[in-house]
Amino acid sequence: MPVSVPKGTTILEAAKQAGVLIPHYCYHPGLPIAGVCRMCLVEVEKQPKLQISCATTVAEGQVVNVFSDQAKKARQGVLEFLLINHPLDCPICDQAGECELQDYVFQEGQARTRYADYAKRFNPVEDFGPDILYVPNRCILCTRCVRFMEHAAHDDVLNVSERGDRAVIGIHPDKKLDHTWAGNVVDLCPVGSLLSKDFLHRARAWELDKTASVCPGCSQGCNVNLDTRNNVVVRLRPRANLEVNRYFMCDYGRGQYRWMNHGDRIEAPLLGGKDLTAVDWDHALDRAVQLVKGISGPAVTLVSPGASNEALYLARQVLGNARLQAAFRVHREAGEWSLAGVPDLALRAERAPNVAGALALGYREEFEAAIQTAADAGLLLVLDDALDGVAPEALQTPNIIYLGTRLPEIARRARVVLPIANVAEEDGTFVNRDRRVQRYFQAKAAPGMARPAWWVLGEILRGLGRGDTLSSAEEAFDLLAQSEPAFGGLSYAGLGVRGAVLGSRQPAGQPA
Ligand code: SF4
Ligand code: SF4
Ligand code: FES
Repeated sequence: MPVSVPKGTTILEAAKQAGVLIPHYCYHPGLPIAGVCRMCLVEVEKQPKLQISCATTVAEGQVVNVFSDQAKKARQGVLEFLLINHPLDCPICDQAGECELQDYVFQEGQARTRYADYAKRFNPVEDFGPDILYVPNRCILCTRCVRFMEHAAHDDVLNVSERGDRAVIGIHPDKKLDHTWAGNVVDLCPVGSLLSKDFLHRARAWELDKTASVCPGCSQGCNVNLDTRNNVVVRLRPRANLEVNRYFMCDYGRGQYRWMNHGDRIEAPLLGGKDLTAVDWDHALDRAVQLVKGISGPAVTLVSPGASNEALYLARQVLGNARLQAAFRVHREAGEWSLAGVPDLALRAERAPNVAGALALGYREEFEAAIQTAADAGLLLVLDDALDGVAPEALQTPNIIYLGTRLPEIARRARVVLPIANVAEEDGTFVNRDRRVQRYFQAKAAPGMARPAWWVLGEILRGLGRGDTLSSAEEAFDLLAQSEPAFGGLSYAGLGVRGAVLGSRQPAGQPA
């Protein structure tokens, strides 16, 4: 198969581009090359010995044979050596189903061993850190974890201790694996040797559905997969995007799945009065439309910087621009926690995913002023958790339309409460701090009658005679892109799964 790649590309990466996966353990595209596992051996014409494809670069006219008898036999030999010591823990191992040892043993056809009666090594499980267990018996000593901590995290707490068949991964006796980005070693480990305590025995890999998403933890906008089981998000794992997070995500981001599953949700539209009364969508939307039609005096829209661009855009349209104060507030921490070996990647101080989107869509970070205006505003539209932490007595206005997932005390006095989906339950887009617009996809069903905020706001606009029913986030985004200059030239389909920078005028249909 002819392959054309830039000079300096390794054989392993060139083969990937030809659609051939050469088995490998120590190699990882996000780490320095170690060349220690010998799993990637291939035959290179005119070379007397097999070569490791992860550390051998391509040459003009070079002929590589990945599947020759000699190359296959060598790789089968490596697997047989690994299986001398690797326990057959698969029925109880968390990695089963996504284990590279299982996969390559299957792919390479190493069905039996000559070491069946050999007594396997035994070392107890070790507690490496707040969320990480080390199971030494399963370790194949690829050193990915050691290199990640040394070269990416710049916190060299791990090493290879002992020699030969006694070798294990050691941890500095006075330290823990508690770096903000330490959880990546669990993803990097090709076998079930490094495990997350949080995910331990929670699900089998084959029960999980994976959905491409964007971490809502901070303004970095790391690309992630949401792993769901029975309509519950059980794990967040990084999804590669070289422009944003390379192959990694921080531990704070990993914990974001918890609130996505909270049960304290509004499940039906509610109408205010003496008590809140559950009604159907038609009644609730009708009341919201009447409230908007009856506006007198200033209008205020308070939004969360965790809402999608589509919702933020439509929320502004509902109250129109005349006399409108559109504001948001963002929670900021006192510092940033970087992954030192990777440029421009850090857990950011701004703990919301769409601050740049809110700014690009005309919202101002003038929350206190907006709350003051809202006190005697004709109408207050609240999107998502914008009112969290605001004391009920700070806001006396009676005319509130509240779109949210939960019902804080202050929202109980709203005229209309409209239940909306959270980030795991809808499609949409965020803009990260580097102005990259990125799509996230629906991973689970919203509870009860909750609907995506873009749909709810689109229906209010339809009731006002200012639009048609929106049937997808794509329609909402494309509407936004046509009327907001900052988003000009972008299309929802064109964003793919890696996104595009605002103002880049990226053509529609860019390959994902
Ligand atoms: S613990 Fe996992 S990542 Fe670390 S050396 Fe062992 S097999 Fe490799
Ligand atoms: S750096 Fe921010 S976006 Fe990335 S995983 Fe952490 S919290 Fe999520
Ligand atoms: S992947 Fe090439 S030697 Fe390990």
